[in-house]
Amino acid sequence: MQFQWYPGHMMKAKRQMQEDIKLVDIIIELVDARIPFSSRNPDIDELGKNKARLILMNKADLADTKKTEVWNAYFKRKGYFVVCIDARRKNGMKLIQHEIMEACKEKIERNRRRGIQNRPMRAMVVGIPNVGKSTFINSYAGRACAKTGNKPGVTKGRQWICLNKNVELLDTPGILWPKFEDQTVGLHLALVGSIKDEILNTDEMAVSLLKILLRDYPGAIEERYGVKEKEETEVLCGIAENRNCLKKGNELDYTKAAALVIDEFRSGKIGRFTIEMPKEQEN
Ligand code: G4P
Repeated sequence: MQFQWYPGHMMKAKRQMQEDIKLVDIIIELVDARIPFSSRNPDIDELGKNKARLILMNKADLADTKKTEVWNAYFKRKGYFVVCIDARRKNGMKLIQHEIMEACKEKIERNRRRGIQNRPMRAMVVGIPNVGKSTFINSYAGRACAKTGNKPGVTKGRQWICLNKNVELLDTPGILWPKFEDQTVGLHLALVGSIKDEILNTDEMAVSLLKILLRDYPGAIEERYGVKEKEETEVLCGIAENRNCLKKGNELDYTKAAALVIDEFRSGKIGRFTIEMPKEQEN
């Protein structure tokens, strides 16, 4: 799903989120493991303060395992509960239940002191578009039953999915707006396919991607495309040659080569990459 964001959309999404957050005990925030910084919107910290939080690093199957570990430790240091998952193949799902209960420990204890026992924790999923929210809800909820909420305080039209006796999940995810005012964030979101390609020029995107991969993953491009790793524009020419990307008249078609590289990056064909590291690491 592709989105165009206008101030009106953001206000609406924010208001909806504020309403939904009131109903839950824990926010399950999905981020893209390849770009854990750019795929977050820190506004959720303010919107969801006083609520337990679990960060799910999704699409871990496409990300660099070692760097995923670094990000995992980083988020944990910041006080979040974290699980790395591949929602499409349902990997990592088993750990989630345990982490939800850990994250909600205080609330459960508070309930117990007030004589409330066995009340399920209520959760909602949030994240920017394309991060895998629907895939996750489908994979996680699986065959769990959905029940209409005619409880007081339940927004009309919303349903709770009972995952088990301890957790209920709001059926519709909260959509966070991407923070693409920052150019690097915008580029990274476009590279993983989370914002419209048309916003950025394909050739420039591919050159920027090659620059990152040549710097952080030397050897990967050479192995996939059989080109010597030099300056990124030369590498793009080499890829166009080796992959026979030609226009009419046998001229090299750089845009075709650029689209190919971006596509193969997104689908993990070149390798598993994480293209950003925690700020404190970069410094
Ligand atoms: P959203 O609700 O947050 O907008 O995201 P959605 O679930 O629609 O997922 C967006 C795309 O990301 C989908 O691909 C989905 O299959 C893919 N995806 C979700 N989780 C994972 C994951 O853990 N690993 C990988 N590799 N991909 C994941 P699509 O191309 O839009 O659709 P399709 O190819 O699945 O039909």
